[in-house]
Amino acid sequence: MVAKANYDSQIVELFPAEVTRWEQEMVDVYRQAFKPPPYEKGEDVVLNFRSTLQKHADREGFRCVAARAAGGSGLSGFGYGYISQPGQWWHNEVVRQLDADTVEEWFVDAFEIVELAVRPEMQGRGIGGRLHDRLLHPVVQRTAVLSTLDAETRGLHLYRKRGWKVIAAGFHFRGVRDPYLIMGLRLRKR
Ligand SMILES: CC(C)(COP(=O)(O)OP(=O)(O)OC[C@H]1O[C@@H](n2cnc3c(N)ncnc32)[C@H](O)[C@@H]1OP(=O)(O)O)[C@@H](O)C(=O)NCCC(=O)NCCS
Repeated sequence: MVAKANYDSQIVELFPAEVTRWEQEMVDVYRQAFKPPPYEKGEDVVLNFRSTLQKHADREGFRCVAARAAGGSGLSGFGYGYISQPGQWWHNEVVRQLDADTVEEWFVDAFEIVELAVRPEMQGRGIGGRLHDRLLHPVVQRTAVLSTLDAETRGLHLYRKRGWKVIAAGFHFRGVRDPYLIMGLRLRKR
């Protein structure tokens, strides 16, 4: 039997202008992917995702990849990120809680994965892994960084398998109840 993972979705790059065109689909993928436990993200978080997406698309080094469902008009999943820089909320929040050596090691020349999401009914077919790999493939920064819920999720499994290291555990963002992991992946030597 032919492995389904290779044939049921096509991974494409979405340039910033195309993000506007695919916004509705991306928002819906986000809504569905983060609805089940342990996330249970409500509509307020979904709306926040929508309102920041276009702003993020204008950031330096923005890169977005999406999985186009074969034979359909929608998206099965997407991932995006950009260069992590001082002045950005996430970057500032993380860096202010870490020591100088850790910041130097992971955050001075870093690509941040902001979101990675696959529709629940399409998960477990290799799409998330392919999105992750395509997203990072041409990235020239020294490291990649991200935060993910500090829980045994499919996402954490994916990141571990691909060599991501935990930079900080039990991490708390201001105003957010659940603890997160801050993770990093070395893309090239200094
Ligand atoms: C994380 C996510 C993007 C992964 O997408 P996906 O298409 O399911 O990913 P894959 O099919 O490539 O599977 C990823 C890994 O999880 C493993 N996996 C499959 N089912 C699993 C399960 N129930 N529990 C844990 N791991 C599981 C797969 O075996 C695979 O590992 P492998 O490469 O060793 O085989 C997707 O599950 C998702 O959108 N989750 C909700 C949102 C989220 O957590 N985003 C990322 C964190 S910020």
